[in-house]
Amino acid sequence: MPQFLLVLLYFGCFILSLPLDAPQQGRADRCATLARSGGFPGSFGAEQCIPLSSPLDSGPGFCRPGPAPQHVAAAATPISFSFDFTNKSSYNGHDIHPEGSAGVGPDVVDVTCNSQDRRSRGCAGRVSYNHSVPFYNKATGEVASFTTQFAFRIMMLELDNNTQQGDGMAFFLSSYPSALPPDSDGLGLGLAHRESGTGYGVDRFIAVEFDTFNNFFEPQVGSDHMGIDLSSVLHSVNTTRLPGNGRFTRSGNMTASINFDSSTMMLVARLHFDDDPSLPPLETSARLPDPLTLLPSEVSVGFSGATGLNMELHQIFSWSFSSTLARPRKPVSIAAAVRPTRSSVVRSGGSHDQSAQHGDGTSAAIEAGVTCQSFTSASATSEPPPLLSQILLGF
Ligand SMILES: *[C@@H]1O[C@H](CO)[C@@H](O)[C@H](O)[C@H]1NC(C)=O
Ligand SMILES: *[C@@H]1O[C@H](CO)[C@@H](O)[C@H](O)[C@H]1NC(C)=O
Ligand SMILES: *[C@@H]1O[C@H](CO)[C@@H](O)[C@H](O)[C@H]1NC(C)=O
Ligand SMILES: *[C@@H]1O[C@H](CO)[C@@H](O)[C@H](O)[C@H]1NC(C)=O
Ligand SMILES: *[C@@H]1O[C@H](CO)[C@@H](O)[C@H](O)[C@H]1NC(C)=O
Repeated sequence: MPQFLLVLLYFGCFILSLPLDAPQQGRADRCATLARSGGFPGSFGAEQCIPLSSPLDSGPGFCRPGPAPQHVAAAATPISFSFDFTNKSSYNGHDIHPEGSAGVGPDVVDVTCNSQDRRSRGCAGRVSYNHSVPFYNKATGEVASFTTQFAFRIMMLELDNNTQQGDGMAFFLSSYPSALPPDSDGLGLGLAHRESGTGYGVDRFIAVEFDTFNNFFEPQVGSDHMGIDLSSVLHSVNTTRLPGNGRFTRSGNMTASINFDSSTMMLVARLHFDDDPSLPPLETSARLPDPLTLLPSEVSVGFSGATGLNMELHQIFSWSFSSTLARPRKPVSIAAAVRPTRSSVVRSGGSHDQSAQHGDGTSAAIEAGVTCQSFTSASATSEPPPLLSQILLGF
């Protein structure tokens, strides 16, 4: 086949197979990934993209075995970063994305409001890495193994001589960019709306929670616990409680390490009590289902937290993260030009990307010493049907 025809087909497919965020799009995604990687068909296992008509005119192309590889895409480096939040000049603030009542201070990152009084009630916030992180490669099926460590504390606050702690914080993976769900204070932990406790569509998450408030639906009444959550803060897939009457808020500085091994699909979270060596480390673990059913291929990673009528501070001192999977290479400009159309179709209804507004507003507020919006909030969530794109595209 003449070279220019190949090129034409390639770009035809390129335009038709725009990036889609639903996980199960089969072979069409291989084209999308090829397109986004900026590589030629040959760079991914000798496949080439052939545009096909589909149930929708704008349907995706698909791939089939093509000629032998012409050249191989340059190897990208896996994601790895490390932040010392106790020294603001040691990292670039643009790498950190605060939302809601979170704030980046000079020597600590607050996941929720940072005031030591009742203004710390009813706060929800997130602090995430301001770049996408690949969770799996849709073209090859390769899933990332990752490891993360963070030093933090959950600080008890006294109000009218009363210490009533709540609600907790979490390390999470969600779709990118992170978008704090509305009304996710209280038991929502900054992960989910406090009434549903559940994330759908772009609001899905994988989280390791450090829960300080024992809600009616939690079996470990009377004790703080660490748990693994898959898109629900109501039903953790595993939990481990602090021994005795242990309290995160009385444990001082802690270091958590979370590892995900994609060869076993085991997610293991360990918590070390830095200020109390007599306490054995806490561990909770779970085997995850197929990551493709959990999240999009590109995710955001970070921390979320919330307070309700009870309150506490959630403070991160340092954070490191590394993954075995490299980020696909950036799309070339044509993709950027066409992409918004399709994304708005796929994500219609997902209307709560409030990141910019929250992030900026709040950091400014915190710097001015004023924190925390009221926790009555009007907007209701309209969840996008999770499999909309599948229905539309007939996959
Ligand atoms: C903070 O980080 C900067 C830049 O890495 C470094 O020059 C400085 O010595 C650090 N300050 C402290 C107190 O460690
Ligand atoms: C996050 O990155 C975007 C560009 O991707 C940038 O516009 C934004 O300012 C960054 N956020 C922060 C808090 O720096
Ligand atoms: C808190 O306790 C102190 C000492 O017991 C007492 O003087 C103070 O009045 C109490 N404050 C409130 C708001 O109850
Ligand atoms: C906790 O860690 C922070 C940051 O490293 C440090 O400033 C603080 O002194 C530590 N607190 C205790 C009780 O060790
Ligand atoms: C929960 O986590 C603990 C600690 O890692 C582990 O021993 C236990 O088998 C896990 N339970 C389930 C149901 O996975």
